[in-house]
Amino acid sequence: MRRLCVPSAAILDRVRALAPDLELAESALVWQDAATPPADVAEIEFWVPPFLGTDQDAARAAVAQMPDLKVIQTQSAGVDVVLPIVPEGVSLCDARGVHGSSTSEWALTAILSVLREFPRFERARQARHWDQTATDELAGKRVLIIGAGDVGRQLGRRLSACDATPVFVARTARDDVHSMTELPQLLPEADVVVLIVPKTSETIGMVDAAFLARLRDGALVVNAARGPVVDTDALLAELQSGRLRAALDVVEPEPLPADHPLWAAPNLLITPHVGGAVPGLPGRFAELLVAQLRRFGKGEPLENVVVGEY
Ligand code: OXD
Repeated sequence: MRRLCVPSAAILDRVRALAPDLELAESALVWQDAATPPADVAEIEFWVPPFLGTDQDAARAAVAQMPDLKVIQTQSAGVDVVLPIVPEGVSLCDARGVHGSSTSEWALTAILSVLREFPRFERARQARHWDQTATDELAGKRVLIIGAGDVGRQLGRRLSACDATPVFVARTARDDVHSMTELPQLLPEADVVVLIVPKTSETIGMVDAAFLARLRDGALVVNAARGPVVDTDALLAELQSGRLRAALDVVEPEPLPADHPLWAAPNLLITPHVGGAVPGLPGRFAELLVAQLRRFGKGEPLENVVVGEY
């Protein structure tokens, strides 16, 4: 029986190396290209779709060919692409814990690049111009982290090491975490706002004109969540007026079309959704996958099960 299906031989090799005894991995299918299903696809019970690149129609078509499917395990922390196509009775598990170091590292890098103005110095280098103008700094800054999961916590640790003050916000208040309802009071005090929330019906368009208007002049908006969390037109207006700055790893749509106004916006750093994708990712994911497969094999409850929208 081919009960496990993974999207690359590299993942399977890692799983087999970590767990040579794992029977599920012995007989696993590698299915990279959803358009051409392998012969044994109907036997699949545990499916790992491709990372981020998952196209919703292809995923829906793939799932339709797996009548015995029981688990979809994403490699991404966000499950917004796959969520709408999960059949009734199938568990969806995310890759929480796998992206904490890479995505928080991206957010820290983005914040430092903007505050220390590395893009300006790079432009000056290209023009062979010695631009000895001083920059802002991270030390002493108040950074609002919206989303207090693994990525948010890891970013908080990294910011504290840089003598900045992380302030956590999440759906519900707990210990050192403020609730979203407190945002109107928290936003005007923030120097930097980092978005690390899942894309849900509650977060789509959350960063709108009113949200941005509460931020102080010169504040920096960092999006490591999903493009639709930010109202692009509202952000563009603030960037073009020179009042706010932004760093985006995610945009709507992706890839960003060549004629999109964001490309030409001032005060903006863009990276092409690469926050999570680093060389350590496959190894960390393989560890999660092995642990999940062992639980699945023994009929034990899985971890990272998505309930509701995330
Ligand atoms: C993720 C991402 O959701 O990298 O994991 O965007």
